[in-house]
Amino acid sequence: MSEHRISLTVNGVVHEAEVPARLTLADFLRERLDVTSVHLGCEHGVCGACTVLLDGETARSCIMLAVQVDGAEIRTLESVAAEDGELHPVQQAFWEKHGMQCGFCTPGFVMTILELLELHPQPTRAEIETWLGGNLCRCTGYVKIVEAVEQAVGAQR
Ligand code: FES
Ligand code: FES
Repeated sequence: MSEHRISLTVNGVVHEAEVPARLTLADFLRERLDVTSVHLGCEHGVCGACTVLLDGETARSCIMLAVQVDGAEIRTLESVAAEDGELHPVQQAFWEKHGMQCGFCTPGFVMTILELLELHPQPTRAEIETWLGGNLCRCTGYVKIVEAVEQAVGAQR
């Protein structure tokens, strides 16, 4: 199978690689770069567990090919906390509000919330619920997640 040379920036570090045309971005991140916050749930673009920021916008890495994102800048959960380990306000709010149980969905939620707060720094509860509609959680019932977002919004004021 022919390979294609790509170069992309992941969490601030430039990576160059030869990849087969059919390698997904999610598999590239997990298997080549050990970026394991990118979780694979449905692998059909439905659950949001694999959500990353692609040039600042959320993208489902399970339905994107690595060759499609040549030259792009990718951000994953690994880059969200400060270098000294201090949690981002969204992560801190998840912790304090019990916004996670098994945690499988959490990285995708956090990346989606970062985009929300970037575009809408003061969202209403209805806007939060709508924005998170594409991220599935099998554990929490969503209430604690929404409360965590509201706490993070309050922390930004
Ligand atoms: S694993 Fe990508 S959307 Fe579900
Ligand atoms: S915390 Fe388990 S799937 Fe969301």
